[in-house]
Amino acid sequence: MRVGILTGGGDCPGLNAVIRGAVRKGIFHHKDEFVGFMEGWRGVLENITMPLDLNSVAGILPRGGTILKSSRTNPAKKEGGIQQCLETLKKQRLDALIAIGGDDTLGVAVKLNAAGAKVVGVPKTIDNDLTGTDFCFGFDTAVTTATDAIDKLHSTAEAHNRVIVVEVMGRNSGWIAIYSGIAGGADVILIPERPFDVDKVAKSLKRRHDLGRYFSIVVVAEGAKPVGGTDQTTAADGKDAFGHVRLGGVGNMLASEIEKRTGFESRAVVLGHIQRGGSPSPFDRMLATRYGVGAIDAVHNSDFGKMVALRGTDIVTVPLEQATSRTRMVGQDLIDVAESLHD
Ligand code: F6P
Repeated sequence: MRVGILTGGGDCPGLNAVIRGAVRKGIFHHKDEFVGFMEGWRGVLENITMPLDLNSVAGILPRGGTILKSSRTNPAKKEGGIQQCLETLKKQRLDALIAIGGDDTLGVAVKLNAAGAKVVGVPKTIDNDLTGTDFCFGFDTAVTTATDAIDKLHSTAEAHNRVIVVEVMGRNSGWIAIYSGIAGGADVILIPERPFDVDKVAKSLKRRHDLGRYFSIVVVAEGAKPVGGTDQTTAADGKDAFGHVRLGGVGNMLASEIEKRTGFESRAVVLGHIQRGGSPSPFDRMLATRYGVGAIDAVHNSDFGKMVALRGTDIVTVPLEQATSRTRMVGQDLIDVAESLHD
């Protein structure tokens, strides 16, 4: 078969491992041929490709980023864009397309599939907020990076008796915040799922101070909002092609409000794109490789319009439409764990 592959949306560690897994299984076991589309859906819209063979995937397993590059191009926003994509797939004589991405990229995959293309999706996002899978690859590496940062910030916060607010990624859900916050022993964890009250945060930091702990670590997801506040804190005007604002700034806002209310010297650290970079963790290499192999299996089983997913320890396929229908939020079970560690 001739199979196209693309990586769309914000990059994350493990994209190359998926590409490698799919290409190696496809070539060794099915004699497939591959076409790599460059820069996500832009490559499909404009028919910009690179050859994908055993040589091009050699050595890429531990590399972050993506050899296919990525973009947030949205063909559905362009007049006739979906049709133009279908024409490219035809020109390239493709039997199937593997789209590796988050809800935006896979949302386009749903539309293309409905228009007649044979698409299989692979769930990617460090935010880990796709429904239908227990984990997206890239998340574990991001959590490892954030936890390492929180560990390091502990010693400097303690040395200076400071509050350090660590802003992590997480647009609509606080998976990175809650995992790295619990793993890093943060004193307060704030996530988009539960609007926060700055007065309550300040009071809990004061209680800790009264117990003789003169420093604190607060972890906040970039998309967290104050109670009663309708807007998330944004770092720039305008929206991307999928209608998202650029988030950022909640950490600085919190640090200054905490300092005002407690008198404790406070600082903010924004981890930003560091969380998306670097070599994938062994867990992400493993998961991404299984997803790549699973995607080729789905192609050869004619299991189109599906996304490969992790359920427990098994790789399964779920309808793409279901996977992109809503954001997967942090559950009450994890919130309870975080809350049970503090008074
Ligand atoms: O990929 C998701 C994400 O990491 C969000 O958490 C974040 O808001 C966004 O990407 C930032 O992406 P960019 O700066 O690349 O537009």
